[in-house]
Amino acid sequence: MKKIVVLISGNGSNLQAIIDNCNSGNINGEIACVISNKEDVYGIERAKASKIKTKIINEDAFQSRAHFDEGLFNLLLDINADLIVLAGFMKILDEKTANYFFGKIINIHPSLLPKYPGLNTHKKVIENKEKYHGVSVHYVSSQLDAGPLIAQGQIKVNKDKNTENLKERIHKVEHIIYPEVIKLICDNKIYLNLDKTVNLYTNDTKGFMHNSYEI
Ligand code: GAR
Repeated sequence: MKKIVVLISGNGSNLQAIIDNCNSGNINGEIACVISNKEDVYGIERAKASKIKTKIINEDAFQSRAHFDEGLFNLLLDINADLIVLAGFMKILDEKTANYFFGKIINIHPSLLPKYPGLNTHKKVIENKEKYHGVSVHYVSSQLDAGPLIAQGQIKVNKDKNTENLKERIHKVEHIIYPEVIKLICDNKIYLNLDKTVNLYTNDTKGFMHNSYEI
């Protein structure tokens, strides 16, 4: 069984999907700790309700960003997880952490990367009258929302006029795709090649999963 650590900054709906899939046995893994860079977020409540260990690492408690980065690095080193899952963790990892744990850290982002890294992706998609929107799961590098792609889930934008509706639909895709990728990683069916391309032991031969969803 793989040891997983999940990093969050907020609501934790993706965390909940991962917890549920671990509890049902779909993911052959156990969440050893949930780390949040913010206190009093709902994701921490979710972890506690499932009796999962929690850790708060708030930048304000450190002398500088560099000290915070060092603290997070040491915490991750200490936990020594097989897989580090960023689930709405709204901080960019420093180069040392990203490089040291490269291949072990994954992130989910609400856009079809490389389109729309950063914030407010749903708003930008609507403003730019995109036909498609989606989510991306990727190995983490020290660049914002970048690194080798593992999977993407795509939806049609349809008549979504407000970001809330689109966000809700995107969340539904996230809650399917993220547990699915984590399951495959825990089953040793996804790994990074030396040339940083992603290998998948599934029927899909495209190098990464790309599915469309009617949601
Ligand atoms: C998710 O939509 C996730 O893709 C996004 O934050 C949200 C967290 O929701 N992550 C990023 O934007 C990373 N750049 P949640 O707290 O309900 O899981």
